[in-house]
Amino acid sequence: MSSIIDNKKLEDELIELNQKHLLHPTSNMKQLQEEGPTFIFTEGNGIYLKDVKGRTLIDSLSSLWNVNIGHGRKELGNVAKEQMEKLAFTSTFGNWSHEPVIRLAAEIAKWTPGDLNVTFFTSGGSEANDTAFKTVRHYWKPQGKLEKKKIISRKKSYHGVAMGATSATGIHEFNTFTTSIAPDFYYVDSTVDSLKELIEQEGANTIAAFISEPVQGSGGVNLPSEGYFEEVRKICDENDILLISDEVICGFGRTGTKFGMDHFGIIPDIITMAKGVTSGYAPLGGMIISESIHKVLYKKTQGNFWHGYTYSGHPTAAVVALKNLEIIEEENLIQNVRMMGDYMLQGFKWIQTQHDQVIDARGIGLLGAISFERKSAAVDPKGPKIVEEALKRGLICRSVVYDGQDTLAFAPPFVINKNHVDQIINILHESIQVAV
Ligand SMILES: Cc1ncc(COP(=O)(O)O)c(C=O)c1O
Repeated sequence: MSSIIDNKKLEDELIELNQKHLLHPTSNMKQLQEEGPTFIFTEGNGIYLKDVKGRTLIDSLSSLWNVNIGHGRKELGNVAKEQMEKLAFTSTFGNWSHEPVIRLAAEIAKWTPGDLNVTFFTSGGSEANDTAFKTVRHYWKPQGKLEKKKIISRKKSYHGVAMGATSATGIHEFNTFTTSIAPDFYYVDSTVDSLKELIEQEGANTIAAFISEPVQGSGGVNLPSEGYFEEVRKICDENDILLISDEVICGFGRTGTKFGMDHFGIIPDIITMAKGVTSGYAPLGGMIISESIHKVLYKKTQGNFWHGYTYSGHPTAAVVALKNLEIIEEENLIQNVRMMGDYMLQGFKWIQTQHDQVIDARGIGLLGAISFERKSAAVDPKGPKIVEEALKRGLICRSVVYDGQDTLAFAPPFVINKNHVDQIINILHESIQVAV
């Protein structure tokens, strides 16, 4: 009894402090002030999260598509503790280095396709993308192509919120949040023709790079059409445009292959990554460039790289990443992603047969979605109501309503099993029945 009272006291205190002092990222501030936080989480284990109210909930999005090996892995805590005690931080600026960052860069080179073997580290995905945008422009300079500075991205893409990343993001809500985005950013529809037209219109001599997620995540789990990336690769080659694959969600196994672009058999010039590299146990991201780009950068320029974050190559984050990648390999988690991904997709397809309002069920690896009919953006979406019902039944899931869509997105931890998937599907089925 006294512990219930203590918990309630703690919850009330935290809610009050939260309202007064915390500005939440990507949030509805008004709703937060009126209703307080929906969850105050206290612990996690596998696919489950526990909150201050004592509820145990299935985390069907791996929090932010990132806790890939699942919550509560002590091994990661242990290596972080050891590293912090030994050497919590030192820089990699200039000619300083340290073993964890060297080992991690070498390990990542084993995961990447082709000669994508050189990594610049950041704290997350937005910084990784801003780094890539600056790097591609810098790359064209010594080749006398100063005009090559435009960056093309796709509508409904999400590339983060740093100035360059938000400018490349093709979701209206994000790129109109601030009154002015960076110049030289352009969006295309997700068709080959749309990309060709823009290149023709702007001139290939003004375009530095094309960036795309292999599968759009935050924009609603949108799979590319058949043959799309194979064509994009060709177009980029023909026009001297660098291809950046934003693998912040897809990288390190999420879609059932090491990187998302592996599905299409193409090799990008640059990969940006974050999230899954540490499964969220420490903030870390990066830009991986090909050896040929690396050579141009150090041979043809004066060799200066005037770009770096204090936490470019944080030793503690690096050991956490190394342990995380070791776990993914040793536990054959990518194989489980493929098997459970197929099973989850079967479940979504079954849901589609049960509910007329479901117009699409899709997925690749453990990245999936179901979409509902929504005649126009003026019509209330069904997703938020289903999310509310699912929550009452112990499932956290994400509704995507950008650009007038009505989608539920899923990206559960790689350690999910058939029982867990069944639970998710049953809860969804019931929640749709009640909410729609
Ligand atoms: C594809 C993609 N790129 C970039 C980002 C930005 O990463 P971060 O939030 O770590 O800055 C995200 C975050 O969700 C993402 O999904």
